[in-house]
Amino acid sequence: MDKIIPTITALGKYVPKKILTNKDLEKMVDTNDEWIKSRTGIKERRIANEEETSSFMAAKAFQDMQERYNIDPLDIDLILVPTITPDMFFPSTAALIQDKIGAKNAWGFDLSAACSGYLYALEVASNFIKSGQYKKVLIAASEKMSSITDYTDRNTCILFGDGAGLTLIEASKDDTGIIDTDLHMDSIGKDFLYIKGGGCLNPATHESVDQKLHYVYQDGRPVYKYAVSKMSQTGYDLVHKHSYTGKDIDLFIPHQANQRIIDACASRLKLREDQIMSNIAKYGNTTAATIPLAMVDAIDDKRLKKGDLVIITAFGGGFTWGAALLKWSI
Ligand code: COA
Repeated sequence: MDKIIPTITALGKYVPKKILTNKDLEKMVDTNDEWIKSRTGIKERRIANEEETSSFMAAKAFQDMQERYNIDPLDIDLILVPTITPDMFFPSTAALIQDKIGAKNAWGFDLSAACSGYLYALEVASNFIKSGQYKKVLIAASEKMSSITDYTDRNTCILFGDGAGLTLIEASKDDTGIIDTDLHMDSIGKDFLYIKGGGCLNPATHESVDQKLHYVYQDGRPVYKYAVSKMSQTGYDLVHKHSYTGKDIDLFIPHQANQRIIDACASRLKLREDQIMSNIAKYGNTTAATIPLAMVDAIDDKRLKKGDLVIITAFGGGFTWGAALLKWSI
């Protein structure tokens, strides 16, 4: 039997209508548009309303996928949901999405790897496809970051936004698809980026809420340093492992955490501006959803075509990080 190559065969996205601009944030915390733009590249982000939970946004993104491609939810075997903002601890967001999209024949689960969640899910999906056990795996990266963001903390509230990006993973019909991946984790990150409240370590109490333990905490400088170093290295290593150089890359699709991090990673690969996909200015950091959201925007902007060599890289809480090299299939 020929080797099975897993690949992305369909995509969809959803972002809430409500826009929170840097100017809006100026009224909420001691910050300014110029500082946010120059330090992060972010101009605005989307904010979900009460109804727009992670499962709701994923279901909307699935509708978008159905409008773009011919997908029958009954054909989906497995739903993977990388998210740090599940609707509830349980049932899983995967189960809630199954209900909302009518994927009655699927099983599924949520996956926790923060901003590297999409990449981790891609690895899991790919291996299920490679094994031949399942034919269609839906990765539904969906995040309602506004639900865990402290809008009195200027260190974090300027960064995050809400949204969902979905991809369908199947066996490739030709030689395009995922060429290789490179995944890592180092628990050193546990001291710099976390939510301490709500788990069994600090169950929810009046005190835990008063101490704001249910919000994202980030020590920005070390996170920035590690993100630049690790994300650059993994991307560089994977491209060069396959005897390519930056010149061969058609599109670099990095996790959208900070434009300066994206630029530093691109410079390590010696990429030109037209080889870099960035939509951080309009969505901010949507954690696990940034990469599939960027893929959909790249398609809509006609920046991706079949056969293109694509490198994706991610870095997030844990720390977790990694890269995937692929030949675009659609
Ligand atoms: N508006 C205005 N000033 C701010 C501010 C804000 N929103 N946030 C912080 N500052 C101030 C700081 O208090 C500091 O002032 P000081 O010099 O008087 O102490 C100054 O700006 C510089 O702060 P610093 O933290 O060094 O800024 P920075 O250049 O590192 O940028 C981040 C801060 C958060 C943008 C940056 O560290 C970052 O992007 N980190 C990684 C984020 C990330 O990727 N997180 C998700 C993981 S995937």
